[in-house]
Amino acid sequence: MSELSKLASFQARVDQLLTEKLNDLTINDPRLHDAMRYGLLIGGKRMRPYLAYVTGEALGAELNDIDAIACAIECIHAYSLLHDDLPAMDDDDLRRGKPTCHKAFDEATAILAGDALQSLAFDFLANHRFNNITAAKQIMLVKQLVDAAGYQGMCGGQALDLAATNKTISLTELEQLHLLKTGALLKASVIMAAECAPNVNTEEMKELAKYAELVGLAYQVRDDIIDIISSEEELGKPAGSDLAANKSTYPLLMGLDQAQQKAQQLYQQSLQALDTLPYNTQNLAEFATFIVHRTH
Ligand code: IPE
Ligand code: IPE
Ligand code: MG
Ligand code: MG
Ligand code: MG
Repeated sequence: MSELSKLASFQARVDQLLTEKLNDLTINDPRLHDAMRYGLLIGGKRMRPYLAYVTGEALGAELNDIDAIACAIECIHAYSLLHDDLPAMDDDDLRRGKPTCHKAFDEATAILAGDALQSLAFDFLANHRFNNITAAKQIMLVKQLVDAAGYQGMCGGQALDLAATNKTISLTELEQLHLLKTGALLKASVIMAAECAPNVNTEEMKELAKYAELVGLAYQVRDDIIDIISSEEELGKPAGSDLAANKSTYPLLMGLDQAQQKAQQLYQQSLQALDTLPYNTQNLAEFATFIVHRTH
């Protein structure tokens, strides 16, 4: 697997910020606090923060401004996984090589920890001291995260995913599902970071959005592929889980080879979108490469 040059340093950066924030919270119930730490701080590749940082860096944004975006999006992502693993959804027992939150604690605590992490995301955006953006822009970032996380974004995609379980859907429907459940947050990582940059014009924003959408789609296609080809040990979560649950996935609908070709095609298209941009987008290109080759 190709390595992302700045992954370790940006992972460390976001981990430190998330840890400090959680340590500073006054939470009356220690069990809720522990479950929030468990869901947010243990493991996780931090791909969305990474994407936000490298986008911001490429476009000349202040990394201090990207901090709020990276932390907020990772909180939404962590909450989405706590809920995704619940018996009412995917009913998985293993995540990041450890028992899922509802197994380590209990279902009610995992639900509440997810809820609390979701609010914490908006705390990060609303209370951050931005260096380079106006208050109006800050409100716009909040709206963008609302759209990416909510019914018209990740939650909407999760609902489509559940509705598509135990039934066959068309490729177009599957693509829509993927774009929302995984694509929305990955796209927000790029777009929200780009909003913090000084001189990005509408045309450039459109190409960045296109890149992010294609990479977001590739991310979930690859997630469906590695559910089949990687081991539980490698994944840190159960392998074969989608098939066992009769989920609609790319490999199921078009076969494994075709799904791999689809990921390749999305990858090439994402690089084409980057080619049009007058910035050094090498880290964004590397990210796309990493995504289609990842084994966990
Ligand atoms: C897994 O996300 C679920 C999807 C949205 C595809 P990640 O692959 O980013 O999981 P972590 O955070 O690294 O564990
Ligand atoms: C999860 O998709 C997407 C979100 C949590 C929004 P999956 O259900 O495919 O993720 P894994 O495979 O359990 O990590
Ligand atoms: Mg799921
Ligand atoms: Mg799942
Ligand atoms: Mg999956």
